[in-house]
Amino acid sequence: MWGAVQLGVLAAFLVLFVPIGMAGWHLSRNKMLFFSCALFITLSVCVHLTPYFPSVSNMLFSSGSTPLSSSSLSLSSVNLDSCISLLHQVSFDFQELNNNVGKNSSWKWIESEPVVQCDFQKLDKSDASDLFNGSWVVIAGDSQARLFVVSLLELLLGGNEMEMIRGDLFKRHSDYHIFIDEIGMKLDFIWAPYVSNLTDLVLGFEEKKSYPDVFVIGTGLWDMLHINNATDYGVSLKLLADLVVLLLPVPSDFGANLVSVRSPNFFWLGMPKLINSMLNTNEKREKMTDEMWQAYTDELYSSKLLRQSGGPLVLLDIHALSNKCGALCTADGMHYHGVVYEAAVHVMLNGLLIESNQKL
Ligand SMILES: *[C@@H]1O[C@H](CO)[C@@H](O)[C@H](O)[C@H]1NC(C)=O
Ligand SMILES: *[C@@H]1O[C@H](CO)[C@@H](O)[C@H](O)[C@H]1NC(C)=O
Ligand SMILES: *[C@@H]1O[C@H](CO)[C@@H](O)[C@H](O)[C@H]1NC(C)=O
Ligand SMILES: *[C@@H]1O[C@H](CO)[C@@H](O)[C@H](O)[C@H]1NC(C)=O
Repeated sequence: MWGAVQLGVLAAFLVLFVPIGMAGWHLSRNKMLFFSCALFITLSVCVHLTPYFPSVSNMLFSSGSTPLSSSSLSLSSVNLDSCISLLHQVSFDFQELNNNVGKNSSWKWIESEPVVQCDFQKLDKSDASDLFNGSWVVIAGDSQARLFVVSLLELLLGGNEMEMIRGDLFKRHSDYHIFIDEIGMKLDFIWAPYVSNLTDLVLGFEEKKSYPDVFVIGTGLWDMLHINNATDYGVSLKLLADLVVLLLPVPSDFGANLVSVRSPNFFWLGMPKLINSMLNTNEKREKMTDEMWQAYTDELYSSKLLRQSGGPLVLLDIHALSNKCGALCTADGMHYHGVVYEAAVHVMLNGLLIESNQKL
């Protein structure tokens, strides 16, 4: 590496001679001066910003602290990215599912060595409450997102309290807002069946300059049923991706407070496995085919929305989870039993822990 002195000498050299080279000897002194100044400014900006790039990129791509929890303990020994990719390695216990045995859950992470090393945990109510203490969570999408909200609230509120609000939450095609006093957590469910609805939502955040701490979005089923054009879906996803990127925090003042900048926690809630023969209308069976599902999913993967393709969102892969649970876990080939969304909630929670590089 070069020291500051060598860099300075090089910069001076460039400032002096590059304009001469570029301008040749024919140009006026003013033009030379202009070139020199422009170069000098560019170089000094580069020199001053370089030290910050490692921390900036660090901050954009995982690590850093979130406001989500005060307790923290580093997970350093395990490769965090590979753990993110193992989050969906779960299995469902059908015996328990069928017997519907009480509250104990009937899914778990599989016990292969790499998965065990990641030390994923099913968070209980108090751990989850700690994690969400004081945060603002926005979940937007179609019925899959609503079912996801149900599972998250069941964890945070417990079964009894959940029963009381279930009616409000399931008013068809409506938003739902709740503030959980004990942990100062605000949760907004936004009914957003089309990508354009998500785009509007993101534009709204940008307009108000207020951004949620955790943001879970996902649509596709309505588009597939009512528009049925994967290409158009892909175009709207790309637009959405461009907008979501703007929600990522930009350090307002280089050097100051880099540690405390919020790190974003964005998730895409994928479409479920569609079991065509079980879908409950002819129109659905005709339009929501496996081929169409694949075309929509291909568009998602090429949209630069997901982390896998360089985008901002971590995929909550409802398709993988629902596919593992299978036909036993759905009545209409599209909406699955709670256990699938419960698993998805814990995938998200562990994703949050990994992202924020901390364990409870
Ligand atoms: C479910 O509960 C039963 C009885 O309480 C217990 O025997 C069983 O081990 C539990 N299963 C799981 C997966 O926790
Ligand atoms: C939430 O955090 C505040 C301080 O940040 C703390 O006083 C309070 O006890 C926490 N509540 C829970 C339920 O963890
Ligand atoms: C969602 O978008 C569609 C199509 O752009 C629009 O017709 C509908 O009113 C929007 N719904 C909501 C809840 O914003
Ligand atoms: C999808 O929409 C585009 C225009 O937005 C159109 O060119 C294309 O033919 C449509 N595809 C199908 C299969 O209808």
